[in-house]
Amino acid sequence: PDLRPYVDELPVPQTIRGDHRLAMAESTHRFHRDLAPAPTWSYGGAEYLGPTIEAHTNEPLKLTFDNKLGKHLFAADVDPTLDGASEESRTRPHTSVHLHGAVTPPDMDGHPMDVFLPGQSRTYRHENRQPAAGLWYHDHGMGLTRLNVHAGLAGTYLLRDDGDTGDRTNAWHLPSGEFELPLILADRRFHADGSLNYRTLTLVPQGHWDGGQIGDRLTVNGKVSPYANVARGQYRFRVLNASNFRAYHLFFRDRRPFHVIGNDAGLLDAPVVTTEIRLTPGERADLVVDFSDLDKGEHVDLINDQQEAALIALVTGAQPLPDVVRFTSTGAKGHQKALPTRLRFAKRPKAPDRRRVVTLTQDLTLKRWPPIGMSLNNLCFEDDPIAMPRQGTTELWEVVNLTVEDHPVHLHLVNLHLVNRQMFDPVAYALANPRPPMHTEWAPPPDAFLIGPPKPPAPWESGPKDTVNCPQNSVTRFLVHFPTADELGFDPDAKFLPASMTHDMAGMDMSLQGYVWHCHILDHEDDCMMARYRLVP
Ligand code: C2O
Ligand code: CU
Repeated sequence: PDLRPYVDELPVPQTIRGDHRLAMAESTHRFHRDLAPAPTWSYGGAEYLGPTIEAHTNEPLKLTFDNKLGKHLFAADVDPTLDGASEESRTRPHTSVHLHGAVTPPDMDGHPMDVFLPGQSRTYRHENRQPAAGLWYHDHGMGLTRLNVHAGLAGTYLLRDDGDTGDRTNAWHLPSGEFELPLILADRRFHADGSLNYRTLTLVPQGHWDGGQIGDRLTVNGKVSPYANVARGQYRFRVLNASNFRAYHLFFRDRRPFHVIGNDAGLLDAPVVTTEIRLTPGERADLVVDFSDLDKGEHVDLINDQQEAALIALVTGAQPLPDVVRFTSTGAKGHQKALPTRLRFAKRPKAPDRRRVVTLTQDLTLKRWPPIGMSLNNLCFEDDPIAMPRQGTTELWEVVNLTVEDHPVHLHLVNLHLVNRQMFDPVAYALANPRPPMHTEWAPPPDAFLIGPPKPPAPWESGPKDTVNCPQNSVTRFLVHFPTADELGFDPDAKFLPASMTHDMAGMDMSLQGYVWHCHILDHEDDCMMARYRLVP
């Protein structure tokens, strides 16, 4: 269908505070005026996605989730050959809820194997012992994450503290209340009846993992290219890329400057002026934009011009999705306050105690169709050895991308400080280091294959992050401080026994330990681009 942009109003998810019980259930939602209402999944009785959860630093929060799901919304797209998935997943979808960016003990982290089934519930307790940040919560069920999130299991979690208080005392006078809006970006594809269509590649039979879902429409908070009415003043946008695969390069049509005040893991040292940002899946940006120049009825559009890599565009037919949101002025007086010149000086990690080279790998495998698989260090999730950084140390991670696409790398629990990126020659590296298996503790260094000088992070990537894009043909370096049990207030290496587990992880110890790190392209983490790590004393 021909879906006109800017005919639906931007929905604003309900905000909830305090302990809550949220059902995960099927719901009904209309993605565009000209699409019929269709089945979706959501948290907490929303039509689609979940409510915005607002929490405050050092105030614990208990969230109980009831899995009330029936048959999988994408039953025919379940690939039972993936780790964690099975035929049963089509009718009894397992779930786990991960609070992305949270500093939380392993048994509260929504570990992908620590799942619960329809009819079961799970309570997560979040201590919120970390500074203000725009987190998000989403499904992390092993082998089903890409489908569960796509169906609607995702939402924003805004953590406040005494500087960034939202409505409470608002010491910094940041736009708040009606002037602060989450913008959850996710590309989708639709059937003629208005329902979500998960399939991207018609060449690949349905039910086979196909490398990555790519939509042909851009939704924001669940509507295709919506409009929003705005007052003449500043707005704070909590932008999240919740897409399976796509990255977005965002700017206003009139190239108006705006401020970035924070990213994934919290506030920047100071507001940064820019005219553009780029977000890969899992990344967030905290923006302040001023619309006070717009007279009543005037509008400005937020635009995306991200192109897919030539090979991906060729195989998938992916088109750019330019229309994001149209902001139309009501002429009413809005929020108008100077931004603070200093925000939060984020602690920089000290000089690294060690260097860890990891590789993003892609294998040709004859075991399945399509004969391609995405992995880390040429290993799969259940493979040993697993990375074991030491508590209290700082590591310099060098991510060597040996594939033909970009991958946003996310580590649970810790903050990442992007140092730089440097081009290298992946073919020469691969020839010099014939594959598998590599070892997570010592993949070969890329030093002999580097090309040109290192490039510093983009200005909006300067603060503490939890997801860092690692582009193709590049080595991406970031510092990670691995905290001690004392710093954390809990044992990050505690073993725990989940109530239920995904069914098919034969041979694995029934108890779980540690965290995961993975590519945040949801389809890649459901394949082998996710690994375990333990934080050892
Ligand atoms: Cu946003 Cu392991 O995830
Ligand atoms: Cu990836």
